[in-house]
Amino acid sequence: MKQVIFVAFISSALVAGQYQQQQQPLSSTRKSKPDHYKLKWPVKKVAVIGAGVGGLISYREFSQQGFEVDLYEREGVAGGNWHYTDEAPLDAPIPNAPIVVGDYEPSLPSDGVTFPYTREWETDSETAAFYRRAHRAPKPIWASLKSNAPAPIQQIRETPWPKGTEWELPHQKLSRYIRAFASWHGVNANDENPNTFYNTRVEHVERSTTGWSLISKELIATSANTTRATWHKRNYDAVVVATGRYNAPNIPNIEGLAEWNQEFPGKLRHSRQYRLPEVYKDKTVLIVGAATSGGEIAREVVQYAKKVYVSVREDKFRGPHFPLIDFLRRLPGNVTLIGEIGSFDQPASSIEQSKIHLVNGTTISGLDNVIFGTGFRYTYPFLPQYINSSLGTNGTLPRVEGVTQPLVTDGTHLRSLYLDAFYIPDPTLLFINANFGMQSFTYAEFVSLAAAKVWSGTADFPTTEAQWAWYDKAVEDRLGFGRQFQFYGAQRTQEALRFFVGWLNDAAVKYGGRQIENLPVENLEISKIWSAARWGNPNHSSSHPSNLGVRIVAPDITIDGSDPAVQDWVYSEWW
Ligand SMILES: Cc1cc2nc3c(=O)[nH]c(=O)nc-3n(C[C@H](O)[C@H](O)[C@H](O)COP(=O)(O)OP(=O)(O)OC[C@H]3O[C@@H](n4cnc5c(N)ncnc54)[C@H](O)[C@@H]3O)c2cc1C
Ligand SMILES: NC(=O)c1ccc[n+]([C@@H]2O[C@H](COP(=O)([O-])OP(=O)(O)OC[C@H]3O[C@@H](n4cnc5c(N)ncnc54)[C@H](OP(=O)(O)O)[C@@H]3O)[C@@H](O)[C@H]2O)c1
Repeated sequence: MKQVIFVAFISSALVAGQYQQQQQPLSSTRKSKPDHYKLKWPVKKVAVIGAGVGGLISYREFSQQGFEVDLYEREGVAGGNWHYTDEAPLDAPIPNAPIVVGDYEPSLPSDGVTFPYTREWETDSETAAFYRRAHRAPKPIWASLKSNAPAPIQQIRETPWPKGTEWELPHQKLSRYIRAFASWHGVNANDENPNTFYNTRVEHVERSTTGWSLISKELIATSANTTRATWHKRNYDAVVVATGRYNAPNIPNIEGLAEWNQEFPGKLRHSRQYRLPEVYKDKTVLIVGAATSGGEIAREVVQYAKKVYVSVREDKFRGPHFPLIDFLRRLPGNVTLIGEIGSFDQPASSIEQSKIHLVNGTTISGLDNVIFGTGFRYTYPFLPQYINSSLGTNGTLPRVEGVTQPLVTDGTHLRSLYLDAFYIPDPTLLFINANFGMQSFTYAEFVSLAAAKVWSGTADFPTTEAQWAWYDKAVEDRLGFGRQFQFYGAQRTQEALRFFVGWLNDAAVKYGGRQIENLPVENLEISKIWSAARWGNPNHSSSHPSNLGVRIVAPDITIDGSDPAVQDWVYSEWW
């Protein structure tokens, strides 16, 4: 007994020692090199860009922490990605628009105008509708889309789904849920909250010596033919970028593709424009890419089309990621898998007669439509100073005074962020839900609470040097930059959540304020059941990190997803 107490004493002393090491005030020898970051200016006023689930959760955290918060949203309603409309986004530029443009070219009034600045245009109604559509950017989801994470995991913790909610959530339900959360916090479009700006796109954000200035453009239809734009310029101490990851499409740069697009307008589409499968009735359709968008669209279109080809390329990444094989297992047998496209031949007189050459030498023709399920690019048109395409995927810049460290280079990943969230050279610029393979509905809460504490001086924040050290280690651990750089998956999500819980709860002990609980352990079991049902044979998926935040190791369920008992289990109301 004595020994146990002694061991307990030693270990708590060690823990206390570690704690003191982390939290101790500066010793005299360290005075010139503080071990915590000091904000360059006090933070009181915060701009949140985006009223999706991430932006709304951060609005809550910052306003509850006593900050003055403005919320900007280009759409007329809250909901973000989950706000479905029959109206689809505009055609994706082929080839891709330059990365600095992303999905829109900022619209700014000429230099020297006085803000707020208003202009009204009269055009034909078609042109007016075009500009309004470009301004709001319809979201990349389709009519039948349902969640690919189960309800108990895809939920805002403050407002859990009612008992009995089906696990596979239709988008209508998700958008109502997010709007209800916005209303609960008084920031929905009809709440007449003077701090919310709907129909308002952020056009430019720039750092000054004492904070950030933000230029926004509100676009209002004053009649079918007339549109009024009002630009505002406002100053903030901190800016939260919660604009989502799926704004700008990625179209692969394949020889001859631009000519096809020019010759056969409307026949080549990106998955973000897909709405209904009936459009492809009796058509021969090529879908490029077979991850979630390509795969799910193929499953639906094949029920109407004459033939569906799906083009895939070798899954080369050796680090943690969603393996292509898992997506392929969801494809129905009547879809024809083909290899990677090498080139699009010179267009013939019709798309049906034109040929595509695969890298393996096969030629395909007789197509009616091509859908690119080839993903998206990280783009922030309102932050052009931090976009440096000349660096490509791997180039870097020296970390010296006067050199701006990039956020975006080729659009495959985000750079220069501590914890994938704080811009290291200026940590009052924050990114919410920059990662993927975590769960946006919960992850946003951890990142937002961290920033709210750091900016209010109620959590210690590492020095710039220590932040770069964390980042350099992340670059190494994640096998360098590229499309998987922001991937979290099971293990990293759990490590990150544990880190946030430890850091923020230590901070609460030291400075007071909100504590945070980790996610419930039953999420693991829920994920296991869901994965088995969704990805089929669990023996195949025994070692992949699923996108539900769980590593499935030797699962104890040995049924495939079609088993009626599992279906009942997953979709019934037991939870
Ligand atoms: C087809 C598809 C299906 C998906 N399915 C799932 C799923 O089943 N489960 C899941 O967990 N996740 C899914 N996701 C991921 C989805 O993005 C997240 O669920 C969630 O929407 C992320 O929330 P967010 O607030 O970070 O971003 P978003 O929901 O994308 O919200 C960003 C908001 O910012 C606004 N905005 C953008 N730029 C500006 C600007 N310049 N000025 C003002 N406002 C701006 C946008 O209009 C938008 O409202 C899916 C994504 C796609 C593309
Ligand atoms: N709820 C739902 O049912 C649902 C539906 C759709 C999307 N989503 C979500 O939306 C997000 C985006 O998914 P996404 O599928 O649109 O994008 P994504 O995950 O980025 O996948 C794009 C895919 O296209 C492939 N690709 C790119 N260029 C290619 C080429 N030239 N030839 C063949 N394949 C190519 C990529 O392969 P490489 O790895 O080789 O680059 C990758 O597999 C994800 O978070 C996803 O979960 C959810």
